[in-house]
Amino acid sequence: MVRQLTEKSLIVASHNQGKVREIGDLLAPFGLNVSSVSELGLPEPVEDGETFLANADIKSLAAARGGNMPALSDDSGLCVPALGNKPGIHSARYAGPNKDFNAAMERLMGELGDKDPAAFFVCALSLAWPDGHVEHFEGKVHGTLTWPMRGDKGFGYDPIFIPEGYDITFAEMESAKKHDMSHRARAFDQMIKACFEKFHTL
Ligand code: IMP
Repeated sequence: MVRQLTEKSLIVASHNQGKVREIGDLLAPFGLNVSSVSELGLPEPVEDGETFLANADIKSLAAARGGNMPALSDDSGLCVPALGNKPGIHSARYAGPNKDFNAAMERLMGELGDKDPAAFFVCALSLAWPDGHVEHFEGKVHGTLTWPMRGDKGFGYDPIFIPEGYDITFAEMESAKKHDMSHRARAFDQMIKACFEKFHTL
């Protein structure tokens, strides 16, 4: 049985400001009191899981227990099949301790060389409660990598990712458009259909 979100407050379990902003936008229509782990002063747990979902659970459970209310986390990343789905769960780590995504994109495109530029973003969502219950959702968006970088919106690898059916990168796209079709939006749709029943009539 899927657990419904009946509480009025939710923690966004991410220290990544780009993600906190996108998740805040996606949750805005539901009138929840949303706070981030940084605002609550909760620590950043070590993400040592081997899958997106395992890492999402580490973050959501730590925040739900630490803040004593439901918490939502997103573990996401870019996968390049020609590179054995790298950087995958290491997407953030490619940017190094300074979170330098220009360097991460250069490193990735150097590794890609003239191999197939097909790529996809994955978003695993974990919605956790303080008693340890979790619900999972996953969304993907397929596309192609391009070089050099294009656009200054979004975050992370957005400047080199052109989603299927478009000729602009995520970083050139209006945020509302990205929110219509991104991996994160697709995972959110599933979560809202499954766990936000009380909000469907709003
Ligand atoms: P996480 O915080 O460990 O889940 O790291 C996810 C990383 O994947 C981010 O730091 C970005 O590098 C990348 N990523 C995830 N979603 C997106 C997106 O929508 N656009 C660009 N990069 C993303």
